[in-house]
Amino acid sequence: MTETERSLRQAVIDTCIALDAKGINQGTSGNVSVRCQAADPTTGFYLTPTSIPYAVMQPEDLVHVALDGTVTGRARPSSELPFHLAIMRARSDAQAIVHTHSTHATAVSCLRQDIPAIHYLVALFGGNSIRCADYATFGTEELSAHVIKALQRRRAALMANHGLIVLGKNLAQALAFTVEAEQLAVLWLRARAAGQPIILPDDEMERVLAKFADYGYGPVES
Ligand code: 13P
Repeated sequence: MTETERSLRQAVIDTCIALDAKGINQGTSGNVSVRCQAADPTTGFYLTPTSIPYAVMQPEDLVHVALDGTVTGRARPSSELPFHLAIMRARSDAQAIVHTHSTHATAVSCLRQDIPAIHYLVALFGGNSIRCADYATFGTEELSAHVIKALQRRRAALMANHGLIVLGKNLAQALAFTVEAEQLAVLWLRARAAGQPIILPDDEMERVLAKFADYGYGPVES
């Protein structure tokens, strides 16, 4: 394993540990992937293994996944390999993927609701909502198809009765946007508990999206 490869694998583990430290994930819940080479998407991606606690995960425990689906490594890949692979194939804007079971985003996913434009930062995710993908059993192609659909022109989606998925232009962005999406879920639940939240109109969200185009967040593909 080259030093570059090792440090990218370690960056995935560091992302997982940061999610744990922020109270976003715990134990072995969630999974993370990153493309091997940002400049060459054909080189595939590294993915966390299934069921290994982040605190003891080693760089060698991550698996390499080629875009044809070939998995290489000493550990078994995350059970959510199907949606990581489907996204890495479909979305060249996704350099990194973070899937979590954060409490508030997952609570909204249990209501099977989208997070509407309650705050202008919803536009960070590409539009006027964070959609909730339909339910399917974890680790299935059916779930992948639902996730891909909910992610159209978005860099995040809730997953019904399951959790949250966020795409980033790198691991740091995927981590930061995961924290932001969880915070928006907190706001949505609290505002609804207190009254009837006012949703920002589409024309205002269009203005925010236009301003964000200059912020360096990168494009959101369909
Ligand atoms: P893995 O340990 O297999 O990645 O599963 C965790 C999870 O969150 C499944 O959705």
